[in-house]
Amino acid sequence: MSGELSPIDKAKFVAARRAADMVEDGMRVGLGTGSTAAWLVRCLGEMVREDGLKIIGVPTSTRTAELAREVGIAVMSLDEAKWLDLTIDGADEFDGELNLIKGGGGALLQEKIVASASDQMVVIADKAKEVESLGAFPLPIEVIPFGWQTTQSLVEETLISMDVLGRTATLRMDGSGPYITDEGNHILDLHLTRIGNPRQLALVINQIPGVVENGLFVDMCDTVVIGYGDGKVEVRDINEGTIETDRIDFVESDNLFKDLSD
Ligand code: A5P
Repeated sequence: MSGELSPIDKAKFVAARRAADMVEDGMRVGLGTGSTAAWLVRCLGEMVREDGLKIIGVPTSTRTAELAREVGIAVMSLDEAKWLDLTIDGADEFDGELNLIKGGGGALLQEKIVASASDQMVVIADKAKEVESLGAFPLPIEVIPFGWQTTQSLVEETLISMDVLGRTATLRMDGSGPYITDEGNHILDLHLTRIGNPRQLALVINQIPGVVENGLFVDMCDTVVIGYGDGKVEVRDINEGTIETDRIDFVESDNLFKDLSD
């Protein structure tokens, strides 16, 4: 990456940097996917290389696994690790109850499985991801390729009785073909505008044959670390009901900002 970091990148970086401090020696850590999670992986890699931090990382996608190995983090599969102390991941949207929309990067299935197998889930996000109601960001759902158009019709029909404002589903593309997830599935993006009842929608969508999983994370996230472009970070803990603020300095000549490929 050349030139100065944008305010959004700075916000993502400081959120990731603050969350990296929650990781302790000996932990098994779920590593999220996306541009914010990539900062986390780089920060943890630096802590492993320079401070001797000893952790096992369980990546939520092939691209996170590649990056983790590249920066020196020991990587294990979820089945090898079995249970994790902490998962740190990005989000596309979060609300006041720390319900999330995830899957903008297409990794929602592994992300949800890994977060479900963790004592704690921490979300790292820039302030722009905070919303009053979820749904402006299209809700991704992972569907199997067989009969996906039938699944799409069933989903749209189901949405008629749901508390949402929009009801169209579009197939996510990757160039001229459908986007393929790490599990070989497709993604339908649901353009809902506003989701009145995320818990109900998540349950109902998953009942539709052909749907593997949806990108609504309800009651899974315990803490959000919100980054701002000026270096401020806010840590909100939903269980404790606490909000802490902090400030992170970044030095752009740091090795962390050189040769970035994500
Ligand atoms: C990946 O599938 C997603 O769930 C990401 O966590 C989410 O899209 C956030 O990505 P950014 O950190 O790139 O905004």
